[in-house]
Amino acid sequence: MRNINLTSLCTLASAFLALPANAQSTGVASQPEIHITADRVKTRINPRMYGLMTEEINFAYEGGLYGELIRNRSFKGEAGYAYQAEEPVYWNAVGAAELALDRNNKLNDALDLSLALTLKSASPEQPAGIRNGGYWGIGLKPDTSYTVSFYAKAEGEIGPLLASLVKAGGASLVSGKVDGVGRDWKKFQITLRTGSELVPSKDNVFTLTASRPGKLWLQQVSVFGPTYKNRPNGLRPDLMELMAGLKPKFLRFPGGNYVEGDTFGQRFEWKKTIGDPAQRPGHRSPWNYWSTDGMGMLEFLLWCEDLGMEPLLDVFAGYALNGERLSSEEDLAPFVQEALDQIEYIIGGADTKWGAQRARDGHPEPFKMSHVEIGNEDVFDKSGSYDKRFSIFHKAIKARYPQLTLISTMAASATPSQRPEMIDDHTYAWGEAQMYEHLTDYDKRPRTDPKVFVGEWATHQGWPMPNMRAAIADAAYLASLERNADVVQMAAYAPLLANLSRVSGHSRDRSLQWATNLIGYDALKSYGTPSYYVQTMFSSHLGDVVLESSGRDIPNWTSDNGKTFPALHWVVTRKDEAGKPGRIQIKFASRAATDQPVRVKLTGVNKLAPTAQLTVMSSANPDAANSLDEPTRVAPKTQPLKGIAREFTLTLPAYSVGVLEIETR
Ligand code: AHR
Repeated sequence: MRNINLTSLCTLASAFLALPANAQSTGVASQPEIHITADRVKTRINPRMYGLMTEEINFAYEGGLYGELIRNRSFKGEAGYAYQAEEPVYWNAVGAAELALDRNNKLNDALDLSLALTLKSASPEQPAGIRNGGYWGIGLKPDTSYTVSFYAKAEGEIGPLLASLVKAGGASLVSGKVDGVGRDWKKFQITLRTGSELVPSKDNVFTLTASRPGKLWLQQVSVFGPTYKNRPNGLRPDLMELMAGLKPKFLRFPGGNYVEGDTFGQRFEWKKTIGDPAQRPGHRSPWNYWSTDGMGMLEFLLWCEDLGMEPLLDVFAGYALNGERLSSEEDLAPFVQEALDQIEYIIGGADTKWGAQRARDGHPEPFKMSHVEIGNEDVFDKSGSYDKRFSIFHKAIKARYPQLTLISTMAASATPSQRPEMIDDHTYAWGEAQMYEHLTDYDKRPRTDPKVFVGEWATHQGWPMPNMRAAIADAAYLASLERNADVVQMAAYAPLLANLSRVSGHSRDRSLQWATNLIGYDALKSYGTPSYYVQTMFSSHLGDVVLESSGRDIPNWTSDNGKTFPALHWVVTRKDEAGKPGRIQIKFASRAATDQPVRVKLTGVNKLAPTAQLTVMSSANPDAANSLDEPTRVAPKTQPLKGIAREFTLTLPAYSVGVLEIETR
């Protein structure tokens, strides 16, 4: 038997532990043991197990993933909880300018108002115009191009306008002139490129000014920085790169609550989110801020394409968060049609009505999609109307697209009229201990029940973002899902993205509506939480099959409320790639407060490579978390580990999560 001490191999860590159903927890202080029966396959794992869940929450798109840097570019954004814009919020006057919303000078029916500027006096020395501070700042980097565009018209000779990126309260960093504003609406565009001497910062504003007095109207005032793969109207590269690290296989969108809206009129009306962004009216997110819908249907689909994900569409199913609902076939018919059209927009050929629209929007090739969800958390509809709504949508979608797997948001017992093929379960644990109570949820699930998509889940521990304790509980949960991969087909942590610029204060001006997310950012920086790294560890070590394993003498930990749970959780999987030896993957999570030697015994295997690959994340302080200033305080490290044999001792660091990947010969 060999001894391998991991504590000397890792510095910082976050840990996940999943306790197999057959593990014994004794609390006895003898050395814990994991016995792996490598020739006994428990179940196969869905190769598309891990994906992302997304919606407009925490300024996930506006002020987040969507590359627009200007806040309230259409002036339709409302202040706080108001339902109609009454003043041009997030815009300020420069010089002697008066700002007002003008509903009589609209750009079009979608952007049905404009910003009217009365420039009482203006000169080259004392220009007048508008200023926008972005989403808690405008992130600028050196040697970078920024695309400014806007629609404008003027009364009389307004002269050239000056578009500038300016240090907040300071000097202009880069600017450019735009000429030719006349009596009719016209679109203007200019590229501003920062110099190499610029120090990256978010303390910047955008200004648009004139140097002659007059009257000017503006609409869709926009500044875009670089976008992922240089897509126009595209997405923020650093956030896309972080997400690529999660190796996601699907994207559940557009919600969450965002698909439903507070009212029917505020649902995600997908047809209003396609085509020219200046023809999209925008709408209010149920998370209490304005969405321009610049991030629309096609942008979601291109996001999928760019990260190799399948779209998992969530369709509006006739229920809004305020309780409004419809359940007769006749009343639901237009919404069923809306869903059918939406599916056609995604997977229909360019010869179909909505496939042709997609082609006109720039993507003739249909996307591949295999799952559609009907509604979101309909358990909150206390009227019991979901049974009827689900069966009506199910019947219509199946009739047209029999190949799609349709997901219900409630247990099969709630939809007796139509048995679902798959259920979307949501598991939010309010504290690490609560997550430990969920670790046997799927061990207990009757195998005759429909398959499961865990469409939203997270451990809430640490504020505003998850700490190492949360990450360990997350890992334990993921191990429990993999262990039950015959039932659990897919899983997505939620929410995904959070703008952390203003995490407290009045709800009207907070960037955060829901604490505990996977990825945090402000206008300049971004980082992955320890929970993010757990996801990367599990998704980049996704096996093909789960192997049988059992445990003995597993130590316990006791939560603040006196409950006792096993402190060590694991799952053992095997990856079989054509032409390569199989790799046994031991994913573990140790909630133990001290280093934990564990005896690992492998049977049913011929030869093992003596050196394995070990990825470990640990933190002596379980309350440690990452932040914008310390983005990788808790992060995994990978290195070779020698001394692998059929029996060896592995010392897991206190508070750790890891994956040991052993090659079979
Ligand atoms: O993830 C945040 C919210 O939690 C989602 O919008 C909703 O589906 C759930 O209640």
